[in-house]
Amino acid sequence: MDGFMKGFVKIFTYGCQMNDLDTQKMYSELSKIGFDKTAETQLADIIILNTCSVRQKAYEKAMSNLGRLMTYKKRNPSLIIAMTGCVAQQEGHGIRERMPHVDMILGTHQLHRLPELLNKRARDIAPIIETDFTACIPSMDIIPELKFTEHPHRAYINIMQGCENFCSYCIVPFVRGSEISRDCGKVLAEVREHASRGVKEVFLLGQNVNSYKGGMSFPDLLRNINSVEGIERIRFTTSHPKDMSDDLIACFQSLEKLCSHIHLPFQSGSDAVLQAMNRHYTRQSYLALTEKLRTARPDISLSADVIVGFPGETNEAYIETLDVIRAVKFDVLYSFKYSERPGTRAAKLRDDVRPDEKLERLKRLQALQRAITIENNRDRIGKTYAVLVDGVSSRHANQIHGRTTQNTIVNFDGDISLLGKIVRVKIKRANPNSLTGEMI
Ligand code: 5AD
Ligand code: SF4
Repeated sequence: MDGFMKGFVKIFTYGCQMNDLDTQKMYSELSKIGFDKTAETQLADIIILNTCSVRQKAYEKAMSNLGRLMTYKKRNPSLIIAMTGCVAQQEGHGIRERMPHVDMILGTHQLHRLPELLNKRARDIAPIIETDFTACIPSMDIIPELKFTEHPHRAYINIMQGCENFCSYCIVPFVRGSEISRDCGKVLAEVREHASRGVKEVFLLGQNVNSYKGGMSFPDLLRNINSVEGIERIRFTTSHPKDMSDDLIACFQSLEKLCSHIHLPFQSGSDAVLQAMNRHYTRQSYLALTEKLRTARPDISLSADVIVGFPGETNEAYIETLDVIRAVKFDVLYSFKYSERPGTRAAKLRDDVRPDEKLERLKRLQALQRAITIENNRDRIGKTYAVLVDGVSSRHANQIHGRTTQNTIVNFDGDISLLGKIVRVKIKRANPNSLTGEMI
């Protein structure tokens, strides 16, 4: 790019880790053509909303924030407002009909074109709307510069994008497209590059990582990363229970760098609901899977996603969901009320669970999970864990925090020189969502 553009860019990010990574990539790419990151919206020459549409609430948040940006545009007509992410993909041209102050709408496969299209916009003020799906996703190959990443010692890496599972409630297959895996050679090269920059932990990202098909199987990819010198921890998300092969489970036994944690959404504990959700497993097979994982790695921590109030969810079905939660004892559970998404199969079903009932079910489930999380955390008191230090407390200058391989946050006394180091910490206290300990 000719570098004639100069200015500030501010990106608002909604949704998942994938979007956080895309935001880092955008900041990094835009800095190369003269745009510095700013935290001040009123200073920005470009404002980007990097959106999520997995639930109606996230969608509405993006749209209402876009509406609010109108005043900025009125004050500064040369301001460029762009929308990226799942809402941009879902709505495309429709957004401009309602929000004519948007200059640029980039779908989920078009992110890499941001610098080129900004250049085009500088020459021609016609709105730009690009939402085509492509055979490969070039933005997966962008490696954000270190200064734009949140943690210098942890690198998030795209290994695949898209989803073909068509869970009946989910909009993701429509807005992220079919599964596209990134070539394993590129993934491994990126891992080595991060290792050479001092990164200790790699976090592999994709909507369905365990169906990875980028030239080797997902377990083989993990085995290859396990032998990269300098990398000490490997994590990945999200996995689908139906793609948890025995080979992948065996990795938890054989790969010492693979962290003792897996995020394995179960969505519901009722077979009838699971079938209506098109999940391809049963309550029993999910429970069996968690047992197998615990046999392979006894200290493994499980987290999951669950939905309450799916159409047709009876009280009995809901109780079965609570039973799974009691049986598995997840450390972390992300729970959601069912939210109807346009174009999905479930949107054609009659949503027969009253909104107040949905809320009631969610609250009861969350109270149960809170009790389990604190109980799990209490079981850790007196034990010693390896903690990768990733930050300094914002409240106490002499306190630092990090994560165990189970992904639990631990706070303890220490100083900034320990950032990026793995230290041993003895747990003294259990908090609702973290632990407090002492370095030994
Ligand atoms: N309603 C509620 N929750 C949903 N999720 C996905 N689609 C919906 C929906 N329509 C949840 C699932 C998924 C997580 C990312 O979001 O639990 O695992
Ligand atoms: Fe959505 Fe199901 Fe794909 Fe996850 S696996 S992104 S819930 S369709």
